[in-house]
Amino acid sequence: MPIFTPFTFSNLTLRNRIVMSPMCMNSSDDSGTVQEFHRIHYGTRAYGGAGLILLEATAVEGAGRITNRDLGIWNEQQAEGLASLVKTIHEGGAKAGVQLAHAGRKCTVDYEQSVAPSSFHFSADYRTPEELTQDGIDRCIEQFKQAARRAYAAEFDAIEIHAAHGYLIHEFLSPLSNRRTDQYNGSTDNRLRFLREIIQAVRQVWPAEKPLLVRLSASDYLPGGLNIDETIRLVNGIKADVDLFDISSGGLLPTPIEETTGYQVDFAAAIRQKAQVPVMAVGLITTREQSEKIVADGQADLVALGRELLRNPYWPIIFDAQRNAQSHLIPKPYRRAFAEAYPK
Ligand SMILES: Cc1cc2nc3c(=O)[nH]c(=O)nc-3n(C[C@H](O)[C@H](O)[C@H](O)COP(=O)(O)O)c2cc1C
Repeated sequence: MPIFTPFTFSNLTLRNRIVMSPMCMNSSDDSGTVQEFHRIHYGTRAYGGAGLILLEATAVEGAGRITNRDLGIWNEQQAEGLASLVKTIHEGGAKAGVQLAHAGRKCTVDYEQSVAPSSFHFSADYRTPEELTQDGIDRCIEQFKQAARRAYAAEFDAIEIHAAHGYLIHEFLSPLSNRRTDQYNGSTDNRLRFLREIIQAVRQVWPAEKPLLVRLSASDYLPGGLNIDETIRLVNGIKADVDLFDISSGGLLPTPIEETTGYQVDFAAAIRQKAQVPVMAVGLITTREQSEKIVADGQADLVALGRELLRNPYWPIIFDAQRNAQSHLIPKPYRRAFAEAYPK
């Protein structure tokens, strides 16, 4: 039962290999603080048995929000709420990670100035962003560092840097959105520079014994954009400072993606094999058999579930109970229900 076996990275051990994928809930208010909704929502998935709960994209500055109902981590009031949310998740037996994010040109908060590596919009429905100056780049890097410092103080177990889905960092990584003429473009290494500098800044305040994850889009699904070979080069350029890569795809430009069962798993498997790094697979992983095969076949170390956990927060304990109705993953007050459902 590989998905129900523990997984250790850095000094952190997860009780199993099931991760709640980060999902924006648009349920805060303009303050970006944790609401009652978040405690119930994330707490339920923790009691439901996930090993690691990755919080939704949490903005490192006001202009880094996708909408003005995103969570934020750019001030101490937000950090206080997040610290109490970490306690709730721990109470449910899961580890807690926060996804540090900057929306870049996909910021839709009307009173914020959206920024990007280059002044090109995502689509006609979005504003044209301001091109970041070197000072602006330095400021963003500092915001990621300060966010990581707050995440540490809030006792998060893991940080994931959101470098996928067409948001600010991805906009630097992809040749389709990065048209700069300075040291942040011109080669793979230069497009990687912004992410590398963020990782280095984060590492100054986020100790080596705590895992640092990076989420990447392995393909832009467009000619001239990121593809799996280029993504492997990117991974090789930062893997010394990253504990695990979370492999997603798309989002840079409004190109439709054909979502089939496990549609991104091959990307994760290729990166795991060719760059020799731990990876998490995500994307229409919905059944126990499928997740177990992904881990057992060595395609990924962890599996992340998104929409499936929105439908069914108890997915991990239900499937674990099918093999052992006395499983310790099941919260004690719930065990009678499972013993009755799955008698010996
Ligand atoms: C409602 C919703 C919100 C999402 N928000 C985020 C997000 O904040 N950060 C992120 O990296 N991915 C986000 N995603 C993508 C998911 O993390 C996941 O990668 C994707 O849904 C595919 O996995 P699934 O098929 O298990 O849902 C979101 C997806 C959904 C459905």
